[in-house]
Amino acid sequence: MSDTLFEVKKEHLETGLRGYPVGYCPTSSVDPFQGLFYVGRLLSQIHHWEPEQVMFLLHNGHEGSSEEVGQFSKELRQRAGCSPELIRQIEQLPRKGHPMKLFSAALLLAGIFHGHNDYREDCLNLVAKIPEIAAIVINYHAGWGGTKASQPDLGYIENFTHMLNVPGADSKRLVRAFKLFSLLHYDHGGGNLSAFVGKAVASGLEEMYGSISAAMCALAGSRHGKANQHSLIFVQNLIREIGEDPDEEAVEEAIRKKLANHDLLFGFGHAVLRVEDPRATLLYDVTWQQEPDHPLVRMAHLLRKVGPKVLKENPKISDPYPNVDAISGTMLTVFDFPYSDYYTVLFGLARIVGISRQIVYERTEAREGRGTPIVRPRYFFKAN
Ligand code: MLT
Repeated sequence: MSDTLFEVKKEHLETGLRGYPVGYCPTSSVDPFQGLFYVGRLLSQIHHWEPEQVMFLLHNGHEGSSEEVGQFSKELRQRAGCSPELIRQIEQLPRKGHPMKLFSAALLLAGIFHGHNDYREDCLNLVAKIPEIAAIVINYHAGWGGTKASQPDLGYIENFTHMLNVPGADSKRLVRAFKLFSLLHYDHGGGNLSAFVGKAVASGLEEMYGSISAAMCALAGSRHGKANQHSLIFVQNLIREIGEDPDEEAVEEAIRKKLANHDLLFGFGHAVLRVEDPRATLLYDVTWQQEPDHPLVRMAHLLRKVGPKVLKENPKISDPYPNVDAISGTMLTVFDFPYSDYYTVLFGLARIVGISRQIVYERTEAREGRGTPIVRPRYFFKAN
């Protein structure tokens, strides 16, 4: 096979490096037609796995025996726990703006109090501590009171749910929703924006917590991680506009109006995928089984049908299908977590597992341990 993977032409400039190969990713890959693979395993093969099993797979590159996964979980439990000083500092941040701002700031603070300047060590500590950091940020920002003491023995997601003071929610439903949501969001190849940014920052030899904080700033944008919040708001607004029980024609008419107005159809399209996102397919199935009569479920499913039909009419749209964001907020709402402001923090809680492992690879293992070079692409000068 020739070493030439891609020839750069002028038309590749200003396309967001779409499809341009830049490196290797040891954790996951995304196929345009089959979707996400975690270390070579299709999502449909592992969607029933416990979070600790998936995290083990991503971090070790192979399926763990029950002893190995047990040992890994024990290690995470031992590394869990934030210092009182860190908790105090997070709870003194301004309670203003989007919670992702607090989340990124909390990660920088975590680096100050818990960082060892060692990518491997910091990676495991960060994965162990992130449920508590996320719970503190959400409880504090939402005004849900102080975060309960961490109890890692409950299990990774069970402990996160225990620490989160969600008002009046059924904790079993929350655990189910957070496990499923996390499983679908741990990683999405090497080139999604937050992974790319985290690795780019680490390529300058910034330590793990700073690199991950930068990655979370990248995730916070509405074209990336915040799309899940916007998608749910989109579905809610549509219900407000055309009612809880519209037929397909009414939904189609509403969508056409929005597109004519240059509004976005949130949750549709993807840079890599060319079919319905298999992560979305899983959530469509779960929500339909769980609550087929819920207005959000009904509307999300109508959009799933009508959206691609309308978008396909535009030849410029290469992927007219729903992605995971089209339905993840509906799933969380149905399972007692209707707080869309925090959906991107939940995304970050999961995605940090994949990005931190990718950073360890690039900094300590790639190129026979020398690590990848500092990211430094070329731009052409253009007077404006
Ligand atoms: C993700 O999960 O990161 C998104 O689907 C975006 C992407 O893969 O580019």
